[in-house]
Amino acid sequence: MADELIPVEHLTEEAASAELRRLADEIARHDTLYHGKDRPEISDADYDALKRRNEAIERQFPALVLSDSPSQRVGAAPAGVFAQITHARPMLSLDNTFSDEDVQDFVASVYRFLGQIPDNSIAFTAEPKIDGLSMSIRYEGRKLKTAATRGDGTTGENVTANILTIKEIPTELPADAPDVVEVRGEVYMAKSDFLALNAQMEAEGRQAYVNPRNTAAGSLRQLDAKVTASRKLKFFAYAWGEIGEMPADTQHGMVEVFRRWGFPVNPLTRRLTSVDEILAHYREIGLKRADLDYDIDGVVYKVDRLDLQARLGFRSRSPRWATAHKFPAEQAFTRIERIDIQVGRTGALTPVARLEPITVGGVVVTNATLHNADYIHGIGNSGERIRPKDHDIREGDTVIVQRAGDVIPQVLDVVLEKRPEGSVAYDFPKTCPVCGSHAVRERNEKTGKLDSVTRCTGGFVCSAQAKEHIKHFVSRNAFDIEGLGTKQVDFFFDSEDPALQIRRAPEIFTLKARQEASLTKLENIEGFGRVSVRKLFEAIDARREIALSRFIFALGIRHVGETTAKLLARSYGSYAHFSEAMQAAAPKFGEAWNELNAIEGIGEVVAASIVEFFKEPRNLDVVQRLLEEVRVQEAQAQATGDSPVAGKTVVFTGSLERFTRDEAKARAEGLGAKVAGSVSKKTDYVVAGPGAGSKLDKARELGVTVMSEDEWLALING
Ligand code: IVH
Repeated sequence: MADELIPVEHLTEEAASAELRRLADEIARHDTLYHGKDRPEISDADYDALKRRNEAIERQFPALVLSDSPSQRVGAAPAGVFAQITHARPMLSLDNTFSDEDVQDFVASVYRFLGQIPDNSIAFTAEPKIDGLSMSIRYEGRKLKTAATRGDGTTGENVTANILTIKEIPTELPADAPDVVEVRGEVYMAKSDFLALNAQMEAEGRQAYVNPRNTAAGSLRQLDAKVTASRKLKFFAYAWGEIGEMPADTQHGMVEVFRRWGFPVNPLTRRLTSVDEILAHYREIGLKRADLDYDIDGVVYKVDRLDLQARLGFRSRSPRWATAHKFPAEQAFTRIERIDIQVGRTGALTPVARLEPITVGGVVVTNATLHNADYIHGIGNSGERIRPKDHDIREGDTVIVQRAGDVIPQVLDVVLEKRPEGSVAYDFPKTCPVCGSHAVRERNEKTGKLDSVTRCTGGFVCSAQAKEHIKHFVSRNAFDIEGLGTKQVDFFFDSEDPALQIRRAPEIFTLKARQEASLTKLENIEGFGRVSVRKLFEAIDARREIALSRFIFALGIRHVGETTAKLLARSYGSYAHFSEAMQAAAPKFGEAWNELNAIEGIGEVVAASIVEFFKEPRNLDVVQRLLEEVRVQEAQAQATGDSPVAGKTVVFTGSLERFTRDEAKARAEGLGAKVAGSVSKKTDYVVAGPGAGSKLDKARELGVTVMSEDEWLALING
């Protein structure tokens, strides 16, 4: 197909205009086939090619961009873009309770309302309060018909296409389900998936997300359901809206029915009677909270019997038969002493608040991220307002700090009453505080919006970027040089002694020779003993031969994470071939460019970034010097389909004794298996070493095949 198309550079304005119209219509038609009718006519790769061509033409002729162009539809949807759905029954919220007394009052009020003496005869369910987004999923004739967000409780947004990408949600109900059913529950993102997504974002030099809830919300509000699909959202069912015939007469009975119908339901749900039991359970859940793979912010208590629920009824917006017992928020007030700017490997300038030390949820916090210039001014990643206009964050401000799970502490809000007199708004630097180069906010080519990240343009000239690059270069998934941790890299980088200095990656490999020729001996320097120096040089020498994918990842090309590096290694086979092809692709059209873009999993932004890297003579010089020191292995041929584990999903858990985790992962992936971090129904094998815990339990619970390290080795070695 691509052969017959006129290269974008050669299009006349008239031809470009006609083609943009044709592409918009064609892409819209495929969207409907794919999402609405589930009957795609073209492959994903061909679909992506259409979108890429559309974008390329738009870049060449920005004035011709159509208002309904597919490029205008990526990213978070602006409010009001989704169609509205009026809920058949309103989606209400819950009253909150915070103290033991509040819970006692709630239980007493239920008895009082029903005119009973409090004799522990009324049962309550206790369910974890999932910190996600509530969703109403409507089935008609036992087929998933629509899915809507809560919205204002009366009308929500139609996110059916996105919900269809969540594998945990059944698209069909069994024959015994009523004709019309609305199942309600919470869509959320697992903490592990959130952390993995952020690790990937960081590896690719992109802005990290704030927390799983916001990420899940952003992932759902995508007009491109493929983005939603890539985000691994999950679901717990716990409530209902309109429903034909009630299949049970208690809350816990209903949840059990949902489970039978194929919905995930929360395993920590209990049925309890006395206040004492309820409070004991609340504390137990509180203790488990940190270990759960999803965020919860409290426990919801509901009267179990539905006839009693009906009698209790609702106040204006919340039921009388339920309450949310919230966990105390892990928040605290403190003062910002100053705001520092950290410069990352890709030049991102991240403002960090240095705080008067404060304990938040049992941990002493001294720093909190302020993310970027917009965040300081109360503007979120999609341009939305997250704090009132005058609540900008300043040095000297008293602020509310929050720490949630593994997430970096954040500054939530400013206490304006405590703002010192004469305070001035924070002036975000326009130059890099480390090297003085210009710091700019790039414009996103696709959306035309300003990037939230301010970036130093100094590249290798910037010592912060150069230093971070060395740290990346020696990191575990790159060159993996043991003995070169953060402290050591700082030491070698900052050293003024030519025999000790490491400012560029190739110098790691010349360190030993420089040492030997010099009078300065590393082993005489504090912190480096004779043994550690020997080990360090051994570790460096051991990496003089390196896999192509690691080598590419180590180069630190923006947007090229571990996964992309592997794709490139597999596609090009050798470094010589790769670098030649990237230089040939520089004009961004022609065979080499098309070949790069045709790699499944590599989009145009990534492709452009790689090509840019190879255009920069300073980068080529560093690579050249590196190649004088190390030998890059050719990539192994792609795994053959006949490996016994090809296409299988494996989870390694426990302390492995026969191989390291990275080794196990690499080997399994080399054989075509997928290595996952958590156990699910889709897991094929769990390889458990000594001390395996919750993942092993989960595997047993789900009936996943569990094997020892030796059994695994026997399997893969055939
Ligand atoms: S019941 C009429 N159960 O909390 C009551 N809600 O603060 C309907 N939530 O909008 C809600 N876990 O998003 C209920 N086990 C649970 C829940 C839960 C989380 C959320 C839900 C709701 C909000 C109310």
